[in-house]
Amino acid sequence: MIKKVNINTLKKIKASGEKFSVLTAYDFSTAKYIDEAGIDVILVGDSLAMVALGYETTHSVGLEEMRIFTKAVAKGVKRALVVTDMPFLSFHCDVVSAVKNCGDMIRQGANAVKIEGFSDYILSVVKRLTDTGIPVMGHLGFTPQFLNTLGGYKIQGKTKEAADEIFSQAKELQKAGAFAIVLEMVPEESAKYITEHIEIPIISCGAGRYCDAQVLVSDDVFGKYSEFTPKFARKYGDMRALILDCARKFDFDVKNGRFPSESEIF
Ligand code: KIV
Repeated sequence: MIKKVNINTLKKIKASGEKFSVLTAYDFSTAKYIDEAGIDVILVGDSLAMVALGYETTHSVGLEEMRIFTKAVAKGVKRALVVTDMPFLSFHCDVVSAVKNCGDMIRQGANAVKIEGFSDYILSVVKRLTDTGIPVMGHLGFTPQFLNTLGGYKIQGKTKEAADEIFSQAKELQKAGAFAIVLEMVPEESAKYITEHIEIPIISCGAGRYCDAQVLVSDDVFGKYSEFTPKFARKYGDMRALILDCARKFDFDVKNGRFPSESEIF
């Protein structure tokens, strides 16, 4: 029987000094294969705004779309922990609507939610969600939903003061009940210090080698999304080339009477 990953599994992995893996997925079959491959956490990232829906930033994706993708991913997953990224404006207005919107993702099949950023308000949301039985993953450092206030895609926590600030935010999130934190685009040295001094798992997204886990956008890993690839992403395949090749062969076969063949007809 397959043993489902839960938030305690991740805490135990950190305590044992081992690492866990996190990839994004947005559809049923990709989620199924990623799960079969042994990835521990599958994130229905709001990066789907760009890689699945063709928007320019994550700001354009809404709750309704996240709901559909969450449902599809959850259906494909047997083992991994499924975490849904709460989209821009879905948890910012008040705690009551934040709980309703996050709870809705749990109803679609997510096991936890991820919320970006830090403020006293966000701490109160994390606390209320945790009290409601909704596990929360935090997201600090570069937070794409704050792109306009951060002034662009910039590395965060570069000075000692800035790194200390992220560390104190991580401690507060931990205290409020977060079960893990994504650290995005933070220098390795700062991320290492934070990882070693925080009890909950720290997941690197361009935060170097010493975090408890690594997350990447699956379309970058598969070589499918070709608009932009961040420096910290590693391409393990060339799905763009594979898709082009298959589509061109099909096109050729159809236009030259080679498809369908006798075995492909009724
Ligand atoms: O939206 C996303 O895919 C993310 C990860 C890259 C951390 O937030």
